[in-house]
Amino acid sequence: MKGKFISVEGTEGVGKTTNIQCIEEWLEARGIAYIATREPGGTALGEKIRALLLDKDNTAMAATAELLLMFAARAQHLEEKIIPALAAGTWVLCDRFTDATYAYQGFGRGLNREHITQLEKLVQGDLHPDFTLILDIDPELGMSRVRARGELDRFESEAMEFFDRVRTGYRERAAENPARYCLVDASDPLAVVQEHIVAALNIFAGEG
Ligand code: TMP
Repeated sequence: MKGKFISVEGTEGVGKTTNIQCIEEWLEARGIAYIATREPGGTALGEKIRALLLDKDNTAMAATAELLLMFAARAQHLEEKIIPALAAGTWVLCDRFTDATYAYQGFGRGLNREHITQLEKLVQGDLHPDFTLILDIDPELGMSRVRARGELDRFESEAMEFFDRVRTGYRERAAENPARYCLVDASDPLAVVQEHIVAALNIFAGEG
């Protein structure tokens, strides 16, 4: 039995970490074996690529270089970690995946989405997350939380219009494929957000 692949997405400061914890508790309560990982990153090489991508001194990074680095990290992550885990029946819980590339590099940077689809096919073949949680929030609210945390990375230093486009990207993707995506209003109180998440997971697991 193959493991299931869950990804968690959203703009900056949306509360991914707290809500990933909620998904981990749901998995643990069911005795489901899983790994928690993240993108960009998740492997030794991927984490080095992540450092390049987030380093705010890399102001001259071309958008296409950024896109290719995302997929380079992803190729390594899939081969080294994600594919072997799923094949062994272990579930994979990933903090961001290719939806982030469509949202940030496609909608945010304005790169051609067909090129992203070509790279997705090259790197992933037919492998996609089975369930994707999108935490949705007004980017202004999210960024005020991020600013309170301290120094901003290269993405967090973008203008608000960038995050508005990223948010639109996520919402459009969720609307196009409601079977795979669960879009949750992350500005609701945490207990309400997590009720929605658990209900969606129960439906996904066939228990709802
Ligand atoms: P994180 O800080 O939420 O872990 O994500 C790191 C940053 O990388 C975040 O600002 C979103 C960005 N990102 C992309 O632009 N494209 C991608 O494909 C991924 C996975 C992340």
